[in-house]
Amino acid sequence: MPVKNRFAELLPEITAWRHDFHEHPELLFEVQRTAAKVAALCRGFGCDEVVEGIGRTGVVAVIKGKSDTKGRVVGLRADMDALPIKEQTGVPYASKTPGKMHACGHDGHTAMLLGAAKYLAETRNFDGTVVCIFQPAEEGGGGGREMVEDGMLTRWNIDEVYGMHNMPGIPVGHFAIRPGPMMAAADQFEITVTGKGGHAAKPHDCIDTTVVSAHIIVAIQTIVSRNVDPMKQLVISVCTVETDSTAHNVIPQTVKMKGTVRTLDPGVQDFVETRLAEVVEGTALALGARAGLQYMRGYPVTINAIENTDFAANVAKAISGNVDVDTPPLMGAEDFSFMLNERPGAYIFLGNGDTAMVHHPAYNFDDSAIPFGSSWYAGMAEARMPAA
Ligand code: NI
Repeated sequence: MPVKNRFAELLPEITAWRHDFHEHPELLFEVQRTAAKVAALCRGFGCDEVVEGIGRTGVVAVIKGKSDTKGRVVGLRADMDALPIKEQTGVPYASKTPGKMHACGHDGHTAMLLGAAKYLAETRNFDGTVVCIFQPAEEGGGGGREMVEDGMLTRWNIDEVYGMHNMPGIPVGHFAIRPGPMMAAADQFEITVTGKGGHAAKPHDCIDTTVVSAHIIVAIQTIVSRNVDPMKQLVISVCTVETDSTAHNVIPQTVKMKGTVRTLDPGVQDFVETRLAEVVEGTALALGARAGLQYMRGYPVTINAIENTDFAANVAKAISGNVDVDTPPLMGAEDFSFMLNERPGAYIFLGNGDTAMVHHPAYNFDDSAIPFGSSWYAGMAEARMPAA
């Protein structure tokens, strides 16, 4: 099963959809235009059922195979949302909305899954049912979680799910995957330090919140270096420090800090949540101040099931011959994890070549990756549900 010939024929059409999505980027759950176009195209392909408004603005398209002796249902997922970034690609189909752009290639993911849907609806060369899942709000809104909470997986009896993301730095036509944790859990925290403000020339009359905050920032890094097994991955980053003073001669009353925690192991994640509070409160106490921690869990770890990962890698291998089956996990996060927490499945990287990194204003999805991505989506359905 090399790249399916049909996708070479469909390439101009799929590319035109991709460029149209690129010109009209939409954010988070506000993907109405994109979702409407996806739904209209899927109806045109002759999908058996197309339902809009799942998880607010998600679209589900169902394609039944030539036969259905085993009753298996395979979910194929793409994300549709763009980012609040001012585009600097210079391409003729650049964003028509200043300050919004498809800087993560979700336009490419959506177009590739549409291509696979068109092919699968034409050929139906499988035994079972394919559910194409087009989700909103991957970039921070948790659209994947919303679709799961809306009952999508049970409503369509989905047994397993497969997702894909393009990746700059991997050659076009190559794939990369690994069993187990593939992307990190991303949590957020906020720290508030309260002391006693006052004249900067009289520090002995104050409890200096900036000095306390500096100690907290340093002490937090000992959780990574001294408390957690060095073989386990952990990132803690303090990203903002804000005081209530704007003067160079006033010791502020309070300091607020915000940051993120990235983990690949739920045990480490639980430990960090507890330990972070101890370090923050204890460090402040030692220096005579008070500090509180607010910890917000975000996207969970994206975990590839072993058997499904083997299938995903084998389908990719048959298409391209170039598959890294033990790619290092990334500390970025992905809300496909909410679907993988409920059903076995796998998430794979598709090479985007030597381009700017995703989320950069000069990033662009590489259209020559389309036949590989569409072939993988369609190939997963055919490989998991061979025609009877
Ligand atoms: Ni993305």
